[in-house]
Amino acid sequence: MKTIPPAILAAVQELLDQDDEPLYRGELTELVEQVMQQRSQYLEAAHRFGTPQYLFEEPRLRAQIDRFTAAFAREGLVARTHYAFKANPTLSMVQAIQRAGLAADASSGLELELALRCGFTRIVLSGPAKTDEELELALAHADRVTVHLDSFAELSRLEALAARHQTSIRAGVRLNTQGHGLWTKFGIPFTALPEFAAQAAQQRHVHLEGVQFHLSWNRQAGGYLRTLSELGPALAQSTPPGGWRFADIGGGYYPEDDEAAYPWLTRRGRLLSLLGLAPAEGPPPDWDLSYLLHPVQPIEAMAREIMDAFQRHLPAGLEMWLEPGRYLANQAVHLLLRVADVKTPELAITDGGTNLLGWERLEGEHTPLINLSHPSLYQKPCRVYGSLCTPHDLWGYACYGEALNPGDILMLPAQGAYVQTLAQRFIKPLCQTVALDLQGELRQVAPAETLKDRYPQLG
Ligand SMILES: Cc1ncc(COP(=O)(O)O)c(C=O)c1O
Repeated sequence: MKTIPPAILAAVQELLDQDDEPLYRGELTELVEQVMQQRSQYLEAAHRFGTPQYLFEEPRLRAQIDRFTAAFAREGLVARTHYAFKANPTLSMVQAIQRAGLAADASSGLELELALRCGFTRIVLSGPAKTDEELELALAHADRVTVHLDSFAELSRLEALAARHQTSIRAGVRLNTQGHGLWTKFGIPFTALPEFAAQAAQQRHVHLEGVQFHLSWNRQAGGYLRTLSELGPALAQSTPPGGWRFADIGGGYYPEDDEAAYPWLTRRGRLLSLLGLAPAEGPPPDWDLSYLLHPVQPIEAMAREIMDAFQRHLPAGLEMWLEPGRYLANQAVHLLLRVADVKTPELAITDGGTNLLGWERLEGEHTPLINLSHPSLYQKPCRVYGSLCTPHDLWGYACYGEALNPGDILMLPAQGAYVQTLAQRFIKPLCQTVALDLQGELRQVAPAETLKDRYPQLG
């Protein structure tokens, strides 16, 4: 490090200063304020049922569902919302979604079985390389299921299975959007749609009615608008015998106030630490406790632009199908933890570990950690770790709170999407889930994992 001439270091710094990521400095203030308003309810959940705990809040789920469906409501346009089970297929979440009247997006036989058992009457089955068993399950419930086909071969397989079972089924076809990197593994290219529609027209048991695409992580409407403008001409070139009935525009809608990055992990920050000009890990000593935030378009504005493009580019009368997962589920589940040990005023260890998140996510991104027992709207720098026997088990570098005392209840809000479904059985057991229902009642809906759950062979 010492051998790098100062002039070169200065030049590198100047170059890095030109880094223009579309981020701004701030905090996830609204999320923290929302938590503060319900602090006593969250503390009650922690005290009555213990920690660690996933707390599922059905009223918040309802609020997200209402906001999403209202955003996509427009006279003269049929919009159907299918909840993407992959975001959070816990029973309480899925049952609450069903009670709210949404349709289901299942991406495996397991999720399809769950959707059927929970009483969903409209289900899409999507995903690559579906097994014969998964397709047969869809065929057995063809009155409720539309299969989103992933390839020409899958069309042939579904047709053969449907013929064997003497039944017929509705289908869509997944399209991959050019330039979407790894996502080209899914579906068929837009350019292959005429050939696909022609092949589908030959099938007696599979009725092609629509198309599906999906783009992930959309903080703005741009990706949907570009794809819809490409889709219009593709649909016009190739109409199946019964005509196109729907276009499923997938999920990927990003909740506001949801994610923040540590400023020292930008390209610039990483280079500075490589050059020895910043600490090798963690925040620099002059960190001002702010984070890097992405501008996120509110769902109402995003929906308006998407619906305008849908109606401008696609044939009139087409139904718009949607598959949100993260947008609906994320704000509805929180993690509650207890401070189990305080080693110094700035270093505490909680009773739950980050296996409950699935991976070492909070080393790389920030979610507010809030001390419900000694709350504050201001952060104090500290390190809060989990109880796993690994140093990577980190909850955060700062906490909203006056202090950190043994027994304090901490909350990591908005952990409803891709968290419980990715949680790991690493060292510690998976924890219980408590639900807050629409009447404001709390109850445990799933117990913590036991030795018997993990090792059923032991009897
Ligand atoms: C086909 C499809 N639909 C919907 C979703 C849900 O996406 P999100 O949770 O970002 O809304 C996904 C996620 O990968 C997907 O692949």
